[in-house]
Amino acid sequence: MKASKVSKVTTHVLQEMKLRQEKISMLTAYDYSMARIVDRSGIDVILVGDSAANVMAGHKTTLPITLNEMIYHASSVMRAVSRALVVVDLPFGTYQGNSREALLSAIRIMKESNANAVKLEGGKEILESVDRILSAGIPVMGHLGLTPQSINKFGTYVVRATHEEEAKKLVEDAHLLTEAGCFALVLEKIPAVLAEKVTREISIPTIGIGAGVQVDGQVLVIHDMLGINQDFSPRFLRRYHNLYEEIKHSVETYISDVKDQKFPNEREQY
Ligand code: KIV
Repeated sequence: MKASKVSKVTTHVLQEMKLRQEKISMLTAYDYSMARIVDRSGIDVILVGDSAANVMAGHKTTLPITLNEMIYHASSVMRAVSRALVVVDLPFGTYQGNSREALLSAIRIMKESNANAVKLEGGKEILESVDRILSAGIPVMGHLGLTPQSINKFGTYVVRATHEEEAKKLVEDAHLLTEAGCFALVLEKIPAVLAEKVTREISIPTIGIGAGVQVDGQVLVIHDMLGINQDFSPRFLRRYHNLYEEIKHSVETYISDVKDQKFPNEREQY
């Protein structure tokens, strides 16, 4: 059955979409009102990304966001969503280097927000955590390439895996995560030819962001694609709207209406 016809997108639906080459659409959302619009528009997957640290809380990196904050965002989203599969990022410091803590973090997200899956950044180095979370029956999405939680290791947000050694490790990691049982992989800011190779080689869906068109789906941060956030313009970003200007114009008009006593008018009062 076509994804557009299903009443609830599951990990199995995504797998079927890959098999019949139907592209997967994914966007972030962090709150009830936005998630409601995005879900009712027919998106396949909603990511409650730790990019909330940037676009919702104004942090420079994704590192400061806490597990409690992610659960708050995820449960707000879950109250709005009926159709999309909802995936929640495990925040920095809640899964790296300690698989028991990873499991407990994932369980908290699933129990307290009612989300459908979690996402973790990294390959071989987090495999034990991935295994342990999967063993509890929690679906896991992987994330390779530019992994923003490792910004202090990389030192920059430039395109990843342009050199042979890093590209080789990325392909190996993609296979490891697939064999471990991840249901999908985000590939962030890597050469399009590499993303295409990974997509061809692994059996699970790949979702690209800055990874070209030959992947199984695409993801963007909603604040970026709606043009709410004006400070971020990487090459891969397509802006579908200029909401920053639209909101600013509306707020300016409201302010002058208030100052000039044009609001409220007679019909807007009791
Ligand atoms: O946190 C996030 O929004 C993400 C996407 C950029 C994939 O991880």
